Amino acid sequence: MRRKLAAGNWKMNGTPEMLAELSTLTGGENGPQILICPPAPLLTRAADVTLGSPVEIGGQDCHANPKGAHTGDIAASMLKDAGASAVIVGHSERRTDHAETDAQVRAKAEAAYAAGLTAIICIGESEEERLGPDCLDIIAAQLDGSTPDTATADNTVIAYEPIWAIGTGRVPTMEQIIETHDMIRTKLTARFGDAGANMRVLYGGSVKPTNAAEIFEAENVDGALVGGASLKAADFQPIIDALAAS
Ligand code: PGA
Repeated sequence: MRRKLAAGNWKMNGTPEMLAELSTLTGGENGPQILICPPAPLLTRAADVTLGSPVEIGGQDCHANPKGAHTGDIAASMLKDAGASAVIVGHSERRTDHAETDAQVRAKAEAAYAAGLTAIICIGESEEERLGPDCLDIIAAQLDGSTPDTATADNTVIAYEPIWAIGTGRVPTMEQIIETHDMIRTKLTARFGDAGANMRVLYGGSVKPTNAAEIFEAENVDGALVGGASLKAADFQPIIDALAAS
């Protein structure tokens, strides 16, 4: 049984005052795992606010090296020390803004494992790629290149996020979501066996309270990575509830 996961990515948004939103989130009895990834300077405060609550805290990125002369970067162990249990790696905004490659994302995931963090590895196609004939092959190549050989069902979560659906209010059709998640599951199982069958695969890109229930109906959608709608409990809680009911 794969435990469902509702993950929130605050990106470069959030104030100390907004952390109060976290203290009200609940998964209910045997509900989904809940994770919020605030900006790094808010991590320790977020960890304080969520102490004893079902909400876990994660980072949005880490460096591939454990320490050193990398001004502005954050080591995975530092996220762990701040109270994180997971870190997002290879988000499309990192791939675009910082030209991160699959190989770098894979190295970051390995750094996350070494620090005892779960890596949430993001993959997903551009709009042009979605319209072309090789879309699934492109996503499969990203998955392969970004996921370390040492990935397990415990240390890795895959997030499929079509770039054109992020922050746009547009989502793929259910057929596209099902086809892509089924392909990812097939690839993971072929490469990792049972671990691949048990690895969680999230959908991300304009998940809202209004569309969450339908998306969560897909067999190989194990939860969501949510941007905008994770900033307020009034939006994120209904998404968690839809996941719990799925
Ligand atoms: P969105 O972002 O929910 O605001 O579309 C998703 C993401 O980038 O993880």
